[in-house]
This record gives sequence, structure tokens and C-alpha cells, in this order.
Amino acid sequence: MKLAVLGGSGRTGRHLIDHALAAGHAVRALVRDPARAPVTHERLEWVQGDARDPAAVLQLLEGCDAVTSALGPTKGAVDVCSVATANVLAAMRARGIKRYVLVSGAGLDAPGDRKDLPGKLISKLVRLISPALVADKERELAALQASDVEWVLVRPPRLVDAPPNGAPRVSTERSLGTKIGRATLADFLLSQVTDARYVRQAPFVSA
Ligand SMILES: NC(=O)c1ccc[n+]([C@@H]2O[C@H](COP(=O)([O-])OP(=O)(O)OC[C@H]3O[C@@H](n4cnc5c(N)ncnc54)[C@H](OP(=O)(O)O)[C@@H]3O)[C@@H](O)[C@H]2O)c1
Repeated sequence: MKLAVLGGSGRTGRHLIDHALAAGHAVRALVRDPARAPVTHERLEWVQGDARDPAAVLQLLEGCDAVTSALGPTKGAVDVCSVATANVLAAMRARGIKRYVLVSGAGLDAPGDRKDLPGKLISKLVRLISPALVADKERELAALQASDVEWVLVRPPRLVDAPPNGAPRVSTERSLGTKIGRATLADFLLSQVTDARYVRQAPFVSA
């Protein structure tokens, strides 16, 4: 398959690219600053552009079979997730691409959640500390729900840098742990490109 990747210069995104290449996929990855492109490979093409720019996202998706994203807000940006996802959804329609796998966070609430007390407290805390970032993630989920795309919105708790340690614990109701390694998260994201189990759902994943 040829995969489009957003956030490929980030700490989760670079694992996503490494794992996709190791699995034999071809990758087209968006990068704002080519100096931040972490790797080169014969099956990897870097496309320069900003995820806020619809034309850049449309160009990124050219010839791709699915879209993956480990995009996250950088300093001062409070709407990048919802803007990027609106651009991805429009570009997917234009390119006839069905599957979109992306990262959100365990603090986001979604229909069907049965969060335990710590999970509810974390949601409240995240909302108190970063209301604009939570609102951005909520707009992103609403856009996905309003689309006809096969999306999988993956909700991890705290991200840590640790070697992959097997399959994560997954639940569609609550987070089963308090952290996950970025490499393990990247593996799960990649698995969801071809797995139909969580399509149009927002599973929690944790170590
Ligand atoms: N940190 C946590 O504990 C935690 C917990 C739960 C969920 N999450 C979520 O997990 C995801 C991945 O986190 P991470 O720590 O791996 O991310 P990260 O290292 O901060 O990487 C973010 C990526 O997004 C890219 N990006 C940001 N704005 C962009 C734009 N306008 N156009 C194109 N690219 C843009 C960055 O590109 P540049 O290299 O150009 O900056 C970078 O590649 C994020 O969505 C985050 O909200 C994080």
C-alpha cells in the first residue's frame, strides 16, 4: 500500500514511518521544514507543506491508498487538529480514499464511553488546563462523525518514549492504563489501516 502520513517529523510519527516502511509499504509524508525530515528511504517521499493548507494536503494524498496521522499541536497552535482533519477529509473525497487512522487523546470524551473515576478526573483536568486543545479535538471528532470515511480515532493516555512492548491493551469504553510507548502506539496505528474492527470508533490504547 501507499500511505500518506501527517506528523511524520514528530515523536510518534517517525515510528509510524519506520514501521510502515519495515512492513513494505510506500509512504508519502508531509513536512513543514524539510530539515526536520528524520529519515530517507527509497519508498519514502517527503511532501513539503503545512497541514493547514488544503492544497498541500491534497498534494500529499496523491496516489495514496490510506491516510495516517500522528499530528499534534505545536506551541501556540490551538486548532491544528480540526483544521488538518477538515483538509484531510476533503482531500480523501477528492482522491477517493476511504481509510483515515489518526491520534487523539484519552482526555477526549466520545459516545459510548464508560470512563472510570480516574478517567473522568483526567478528562476534567485536561479540559481545565487546555480547554482550547480539547475543543480542537472535539471539533475533529465531530467532523469525522459527519463524514462517510472509514476513520479510526485512537485515544492514548500519556505518551512515553520506550521500545515497542507487544500489543497494547485496547478498549472502546475506557483507558485500561495510564501510559503507552510511542513506538507501540505507532504499531497500533499502522495495524488499523487494514483492520476493520474499530472503524468509525475511538478506541483507547494503553500499555
Ligand atoms: N504527549 C502526550 O502525552 C499525549 C497524550 C495523548 C495524546 N497525544 C497526542 O498524540 C499525538 C502525537 O504526539 P507526539 O508527542 O508524538 O507529537 P509531536 O512529537 O509533538 O509531533 C507533532 C507533529 O505534528 C506536526 N505538525 C504540527 N502542526 C503542523 C502543521 N500545521 N502542519 C504540518 N505538520 C504539523 C509536527 O511537525 P513539525 O516537526 O513541523 O513541528 C510534528 O511532526 C498528538 O496528537 C498529541 O496531541 C499526546
